Amino acid sequence: MRSILSIAIAATLALASSAHPTPRSVGGVEHNCLASAIMSGDDFRSLRKRNNAAPTLPWSYEGSAGPAFWGSLNPNYTSCSSGKRQSPINFTPNEKISVDAPFELWYPQSFDEVEVENLGATVEVAVPADTAFLKRDNVKYSLVQFHVHTPSETSPHHPRPTLQHHVQDKHYPSEVHFVHRNPANPADLHVVGLFLNRGTPYAEGLTGWLDEWINNVPARKGEHTKVKDFPIGGAAKVLLSSGPFWQYEGSLTTPPCSEGVRWVVANKPLPVDETMLAAVDSLVPFSSRFTQKNQVA
Ligand SMILES: *[C@@H]1O[C@H](CO)[C@@H](O)[C@H](O)[C@H]1NC(C)=O
Ligand SMILES: [Zn+2]
Repeated sequence: MRSILSIAIAATLALASSAHPTPRSVGGVEHNCLASAIMSGDDFRSLRKRNNAAPTLPWSYEGSAGPAFWGSLNPNYTSCSSGKRQSPINFTPNEKISVDAPFELWYPQSFDEVEVENLGATVEVAVPADTAFLKRDNVKYSLVQFHVHTPSETSPHHPRPTLQHHVQDKHYPSEVHFVHRNPANPADLHVVGLFLNRGTPYAEGLTGWLDEWINNVPARKGEHTKVKDFPIGGAAKVLLSSGPFWQYEGSLTTPPCSEGVRWVVANKPLPVDETMLAAVDSLVPFSSRFTQKNQVA
């Protein structure tokens, strides 16, 4: 598993450092750049490989490098300011919603080994390449990683907390993003969002993935640790039973804010107890881009 994952990361790095990335079936340079920077995780991994030092973020969630300024921080980030289908959005009756999941999930019961990473802006689980899949419209996307966003309503540093996604102005404490990529076209991403909310937790068989994840996050930014026999199976069950499902075409919610990302967000939050919410909150600082005002066609 390790060697496969290493190859995937090496391939990502090769794309990132090549001025002329190999063209894929769809999209040009811009899309290949998207592939190189799927999410903050890839940025961090490449930094770590190059410098073997604690990574630093070129963008942030507050101040002069905050979300309102992302578009001007780097020529590669212009979608953040000029994009037309940016995420997150506030769900309204205009968005498509379906009772059944518009995809199939082919996740194993467990991964032999995952890497749990404290990236500073988020905490993430990087999974072995090509071992868990989301199938939709004849495309087989591979689960790459999942991470969490946390608006902290009580933090005095963030007077305007917003959620990654709102459901008709209802706010939840956290949102987990399961990021899948089409191996045949790395620009083609499919993210599934799952809210966390306070409530009576489901049985451990359904939530072991969350416990194993959060309990194993290294204390310091930039650190990562391997976890064996990671029980991902419960995540698939939770996702499939948390409908109805909102669907829309959007973007990455972090720079480069690339568009063409297929989003499905489960309407029903996963109930977790206060201890879990507090643990997530203490690990992940405010990390939610403000709701985007896209032109409605
Ligand atoms: C923009 O992205 C490309 C492709 O990933 C990269 O080669 C280039 O260095 C980036 N430019 C800046 C200013 O970061
Ligand atoms: Zn995310």
